[in-house]
Amino acid sequence: MTKQSKRLYLNEVATRDGFQNEAAFIDTDDKIALIDALSACGYAKIEVTSFTSPKAIPALRDAEAVMHGIARQPGVVYTVLVPNVRGAERALSCNVDEVNLVMSLSESHNRANLRMTREQSFAQLGDVIDAMRGTGVAINVSLSTAMGCPMEGDVPLATVLDWMARFAERGVHGITLCDTTGMAYPSQVRELCERSRAQFDALELTLHFHNTRGMALANTLAALEAGIVRFDASLGGLGGCPYAPGATGNVCTEELVHMLELDGYDTGVNLAAVLDASARLPALIGHDVPSQILKAGRRTDLHPLPGGVQGMPEQRAFS
Ligand code: COA
Ligand code: ZN
Repeated sequence: MTKQSKRLYLNEVATRDGFQNEAAFIDTDDKIALIDALSACGYAKIEVTSFTSPKAIPALRDAEAVMHGIARQPGVVYTVLVPNVRGAERALSCNVDEVNLVMSLSESHNRANLRMTREQSFAQLGDVIDAMRGTGVAINVSLSTAMGCPMEGDVPLATVLDWMARFAERGVHGITLCDTTGMAYPSQVRELCERSRAQFDALELTLHFHNTRGMALANTLAALEAGIVRFDASLGGLGGCPYAPGATGNVCTEELVHMLELDGYDTGVNLAAVLDASARLPALIGHDVPSQILKAGRRTDLHPLPGGVQGMPEQRAFS
């Protein structure tokens, strides 16, 4: 398949990865209105919220109300983050299409984020997988710090592949490799994606980049070269893990779509509609968002000549 005709699948994570980090609570009705707008943008998937402990993530304590309140668009997969069986039961009561389980591949980050060892997490997520059996709900696992840990540094490729194999054996449908704190770099991403695709061709593989060090778009291109077609992205570039020092936003949806469209990819996503939705964010969350496209516009959004400038040389009348 040529690059020009390649279909990509985007998962919008702003209302989960983004909103979980916001200090001020965003009203449930505002969350619902934003998700309804996102549902009309052409995403393959939307990560709506998380069914975590309200003490750990108070910003998303209205998860049930949000899930019940949104108008679900046929063809969009509505997924939610779930840390344990309790979360899975709450998610099932809302008829989600998919649950997104989460653990970190570095011991320190897992302890900070989930208050468990990795083995305890794996056992607990195994219980969730058992609880989901026969429900028809898809299971994805997001593996945090897969490209580096802010406390431990590099995470060996063999460690990533080992944990992927353990989840593949448990029968999950998809795995998301997360660069939780923007430590990944392109050649690392390419190798990780090539090895993962070769070993786990039956799994839906998704890449989740944060732009902490400005490398998210470069890493996306590296993943594309390695054949990855699924990406998480966040409206306005919101996002960040509350348990990762210095973490900043995910790759920005409109920057990603803008770049991919220019290179001829079919993202399924309507850039104008995404920009409209992104423009609503500052009022909703009370602060500016990282999005460069929101500030600068698309590359072909032309500007009037500044006042006092006479116009193009060839348009001037020379005597
Ligand atoms: N939904 C609602 N409440 C939950 C819950 C869930 N899925 N899981 C646990 N709780 C509640 C418990 O009922 C308990 O409440 P109580 O203090 O009123 O009795 C409290 O949370 C603590 O439960 P416990 O089982 O001791 O868990 P914990 O304190 O070790 O927390 C997690 C473990 C994983 C549930 C919690 O740390 C969490 O939700 N973390 C969020 C992780 C996250 O989303 N990070 C960002 C994304 S990567
Ligand atoms: Zn993230």
